[in-house]
Amino acid sequence: MNILVTGANGQLGNEMRIVSQGSKDNYIFTDVAELDITNLEAIRKMVKEKEVKVIINCAAYTNVDKAEEDVEFCELLNAAAPENLAISMKEVDGLLVHVSTDYVFGGDPYNTPCTEDKKGTPTGVYGKSKLHGEQNIQQVGCHHLIIRTAWLYSEFGKNFVKTMLNLTATKPQLKVVFDQTGTPTYAYDLAVAIYDVVENRKYEGNDGIYHYSNEGVCSWYDFTKMIAEYSGQTACDIQPCHSNEFPSPVTRPSYSVLDKTKIKETFGISVPYWTESLKICINNLKK
Ligand SMILES: NC(=O)c1ccc[n+]([C@@H]2O[C@H](COP(=O)([O-])OP(=O)(O)OC[C@H]3O[C@@H](n4cnc5c(N)ncnc54)[C@H](OP(=O)(O)O)[C@@H]3O)[C@@H](O)[C@H]2O)c1
Repeated sequence: MNILVTGANGQLGNEMRIVSQGSKDNYIFTDVAELDITNLEAIRKMVKEKEVKVIINCAAYTNVDKAEEDVEFCELLNAAAPENLAISMKEVDGLLVHVSTDYVFGGDPYNTPCTEDKKGTPTGVYGKSKLHGEQNIQQVGCHHLIIRTAWLYSEFGKNFVKTMLNLTATKPQLKVVFDQTGTPTYAYDLAVAIYDVVENRKYEGNDGIYHYSNEGVCSWYDFTKMIAEYSGQTACDIQPCHSNEFPSPVTRPSYSVLDKTKIKETFGISVPYWTESLKICINNLKK
């Protein structure tokens, strides 16, 4: 079976390259230069020429702050483009695996882990655009798995872990918010889960929305403390602070923990605890 991975030079896309190496399927990796997902005709052409039966969409507009002033482009990439992918899969009775975000929540003060059926309450342009993308895919009605994830980090690209590794190594003191609670997710773990579901055809008869993050709960402050500890960079004095000390164009969710019961029960997936995965990523980065 031919599987197209879009946005393959991003964090998740790079992890998909790694985890799919031993696959019985044929993976085709593309980034914007090879396939621009805002272009429906280009997608249709590739799907036809390569006989694609599954698309794993790792492409997105992911700059949460910049999205506030880049509304149109963010909607194009996060809402219209997934619709294009859905249309192309509907036409060949294929499957779209699409990745969404915990930032579809946040407007309501949820304070227990969010299940898939909870109403989306995005607070910013990015979260809204990702929710629109989900809705567009559902409306097109192709076979789909929409996997919401959170606080993604990896060895690739820019992310919170890399930023904090740099800051804790160079600054004597650091303030990090402790009033936003969620769960970090190692992109490698998410890629393993997606690969398992596709490789073993577990998706059959299981269209829908699923939540995947690592296990556990923390604040960005706790996350930073563990990054410093695991990297051995403990000289930096890390202090908790409130979000309003860091003016931002967008209000981020104060609580966006994802309940993963559905993905674990449906697909028999075991999810690593966040500190265990963080340790692995930091060790890889230090090599
Ligand atoms: N990062 C997080 O913390 C986080 C949290 C929750 C959910 N998610 C979701 O998880 C998914 C993967 O995120 P990520 O962090 O791996 O993203 P990422 O590293 O920002 O990668 C996204 C990739 O998409 C590519 N791209 C941009 N425009 C494109 C287009 N028109 N056509 C094809 N490719 C295009 C980008 O290329 P260029 O770099 O060249 O633009 C980039 O390689 C996304 O759906 C995101 O919304 C992320």
